Amino acid sequence: MGGDDRIVYLDNAATSWPKPAGVADAMAAFLRDSGGNPGRSGHRLSIAAGRVVAEARDAVAEALGVGDPLRVAFAANATAAINAALFGVLRPGDLVVADGMAHNAVARPLTELGRMGVSVKWIRCGRDGSIDLAHAEKLVRGTGGRAARMLVVTHGSNVCGSLAPLGELAGVAARHGATMLVDAAQTAGIEDLGLDSLGDAMVAFTGHKAMLGPGGTGGLAFSRGADIGRVRPLVRGGTGSASDSEDQPAFMPDRLEAGTANGPGLAGLAAGLGWIAGNGGRGAIRDRELRLTEALVSGIAALPGAAVYGPEPGRPRCAVMSFTLAGWSCSELALALDERYGVLCRVGLHCAPRAHRVLGTFPDGTARFAPGPFTTEADVERAIGALAELAAEGGRA
Ligand SMILES: Cc1ncc(COP(=O)(O)O)c(C=O)c1O
Repeated sequence: MGGDDRIVYLDNAATSWPKPAGVADAMAAFLRDSGGNPGRSGHRLSIAAGRVVAEARDAVAEALGVGDPLRVAFAANATAAINAALFGVLRPGDLVVADGMAHNAVARPLTELGRMGVSVKWIRCGRDGSIDLAHAEKLVRGTGGRAARMLVVTHGSNVCGSLAPLGELAGVAARHGATMLVDAAQTAGIEDLGLDSLGDAMVAFTGHKAMLGPGGTGGLAFSRGADIGRVRPLVRGGTGSASDSEDQPAFMPDRLEAGTANGPGLAGLAAGLGWIAGNGGRGAIRDRELRLTEALVSGIAALPGAAVYGPEPGRPRCAVMSFTLAGWSCSELALALDERYGVLCRVGLHCAPRAHRVLGTFPDGTARFAPGPFTTEADVERAIGALAELAAEGGRA
């Protein structure tokens, strides 16, 4: 299954495509066969819908390494989950520490929190996107006896594919009594996150990337050691539970799930995760995608005028790589790749200006290739071949 034959889709970091056929089927089946409101009315269609949502919750909990699925709260996407965690926990006077590869889904809420009296500190990163762990420790320890309330970590960089060492960072957070928020938008569904082993931690995930589900799905999941009671709900409303009270239920997931769930979306998400489980599992899919990514890195690095950014070959990474080509502006390059070769990618700053400052590619940005489970070796060869021709032309920038 490779989608349209004329297309080489290398934009899986933005959203995965194509989706497994079962995703659209499951969404249609939800609307056709079990379209009641999950968790509300007690009739058979509501119960059927609730079952689909529970299946999705079970599948997500398994994917994230969470023993109790009720510690997974669904949201519209990773951005909503990150906002729920940041605004739910941080108060004026708190210190929050985040890494320099942050996406704007983290940086923009933190900027706003900074205006509201939260102190925000940024961990230095190397030119390969790696986090300076000693600097992380120093910032989280804080000064004057005031340690950080929260450490925010970009697990996989959506710009260059660098992968943060979650175990070590969880150790930093634990030593200073901070909670850790992991932005796993790029990695949830494909990396083994082992959330329950990370101490006091939360993971923001999105459903439409490596989990292979549709847009409009994602959420916030909590480790066994997390204090969920500390997260003040941002959105309050109906849950179908404890309806005699006008207070938001304190228990999960209702605490963080006011309003009707995205039933069709969650049906698709369960199908996406089911496809991963039935096709070798996360590890096999990840290894294959990483081989394709390394092939892109070495093939593109060998082209005249090309510069590749991010981890050295063999270093921990996810299936995202970034490059520039001398003589070509990013936008001209994307246009030529799309119009002349059917190679689809994303160029520019990828909603992560801070990461580009780290890599030295601000403000022009980079071109980004991100293979997915349906990318073939032929796709990779075609993309490198297209770039070789464009490199020989010398571009118009
Ligand atoms: C690292 C990172 N964080 C957060 C997000 C936001 O994800 P979503 O669009 O699902 O909210 C993205 C999406 O590109 C991302 O790559």
